[in-house]
Amino acid sequence: ADIVAQVTESGLRGRGGAGFPTGIKWKTVLDTAGDRKYIVCNADEGDSGTFADRMIMEGDPFVLIEGMTIAGIATGATKGFVYVRSEYPHAVAVMNKAVEVARKAGVLGASVLGSPYAFDMEIRVGAGAYVCGEETALLDSLEGKRGMVRAKPPLPAHKGLFGKPTVINNVISLASVPVIMDKGAAFYKDFGMGRSRGTIPIQIAGNVKYAGLFEAAFGMTLGEIIDDIGGGTATGRPVKAVQVGGPLGAYFPRALFDTPFDYEAFAAKDGLIGHAGIVVFDDTADMLKQARFAMEFCAIESCGKCTPCRIGSTRGVETIDRIVAGIEPEKNLALVTDLCNTMKFGSLCALGGFTPYPVMSSITHFPDDFKPAPVRVAAE
Ligand SMILES: Cc1cc2nc3c(=O)[nH]c(=O)nc-3n(C[C@H](O)[C@H](O)[C@H](O)COP(=O)(O)O)c2cc1C
Ligand code: SF4
Repeated sequence: ADIVAQVTESGLRGRGGAGFPTGIKWKTVLDTAGDRKYIVCNADEGDSGTFADRMIMEGDPFVLIEGMTIAGIATGATKGFVYVRSEYPHAVAVMNKAVEVARKAGVLGASVLGSPYAFDMEIRVGAGAYVCGEETALLDSLEGKRGMVRAKPPLPAHKGLFGKPTVINNVISLASVPVIMDKGAAFYKDFGMGRSRGTIPIQIAGNVKYAGLFEAAFGMTLGEIIDDIGGGTATGRPVKAVQVGGPLGAYFPRALFDTPFDYEAFAAKDGLIGHAGIVVFDDTADMLKQARFAMEFCAIESCGKCTPCRIGSTRGVETIDRIVAGIEPEKNLALVTDLCNTMKFGSLCALGGFTPYPVMSSITHFPDDFKPAPVRVAAE
C-alpha cells in the first residue's frame, strides 16, 4: 500500500497513450481479491515514429524488470508478462537474457531478493497487429486467442488476463517506477506542468533534421521541440504539419506550435500526446492524402468488432476518394465530418474512436487541401 501511495503521489500517468494515473490503476488491483494477479507490460509500441520502449528494453532491461517486480509486490501479483511486438527481435533477445540473469541473481523467483514476495516473468511476442497494443486485445492475444477488443466493464484491473485482476502498463510507465522509489514521489513530481508530471521521452521522426529521442520534463512547447530540438525539416522547406501521438493523433499546423507538451493542453486543442511520437511533414505534404491514409489504416487494422470502425473506416476511404475525384466535394466533405462524429462517439475502442483526429484536424487546419481539383491546381 505504501508503494501504491508513492506512485500515486508522484503523479505518474500511463505513457502508452491514455495518460491514466498509474497509482489509481495499481490501487484498483491491490484492492481486488484474486487467487492470482498479473502484471502485463505493453511493449507492442505500434505508434508511428516511436521507439522509446525499444530503447529501454534493449538498453536497460533491468529497469523494466525492476519496475514490474515492484508493481507485483505492490499489488499482490506474482507473475508478469512482457508483450513485445514481433518487429523487435533484439529487444526480445535482450529481455529474455535479462530475465534469466535476474532469476539467477534471485531478483525473480519464489523469493524476491530473500523477501517473502514471489515474482517471476515471461517474454511473449506479438504477431504484428496494431490493435493488439490496445490493452484488452493484447490480453486476448496473450491468452492465445485472436486479438479482439473486449467491452469494458469489466476493467482489466478487475478481470484481466485469464479473468484475474491485472495491471497493464506501458514499458515507460513501469520503467519510471524505480526512480520514484529511489528518489521519492516529490522528486519525480517536481518535473513537469499541470497534471502532467515527470519526464517524457519525446521521439521526433519523419521529415526532420535531427531525428531521435529527447527526454524532457512536460511543458516544452511544440515549437521548441520541432524547431529547437528537431532543427526543422530535413529538406529545409517550411514545416506544414506535425502529427503527434501516432497514427490516431491530430495534425497540428505551425499556428498551434505554442501548445505546451501536456496532456490537457493537447486535448484542449483536439489533439493528443499518446506515446509522444512526433512525425514532421514539410509543405509538400498533401493533407487530403493523409486523411485518406488515416481511414485506410483504420480499415486495415480494425479488429472488426464494432460497426462504426469496421464499416465506417471503409466508407471513409470511399467518401474521401469521391472528394479527390471531384464528385460533389462539399456534400462528401460534410459526409466525412458526419462519419467522423459517428466513429468518435460510437466506436468501442480508441482505434475507431480516434481515427477522426487525424482526419478532422486535416480538414480543419488545412482546408485548401480539400478543395476540388481545379482550385487545388490553381492554388499550387
Ligand atoms: C488501437 C490501440 C493501440 C494501442 N497501442 C499501444 C501500444 O502499442 N503500447 C501501449 O503501451 N499502449 C497502447 N495502447 C494503449 C493501451 O490500450 C493502454 O492504455 C496502455 O497499455 C495502458 O498502459 P499505461 O497506463 O501505462 O499507458 C493502444 C490503444 C489502442 C486503442
Ligand atoms: S473501434 Fe475498431 S478496433 Fe476498436 S473494437 Fe471497434 S472494430 Fe475493434
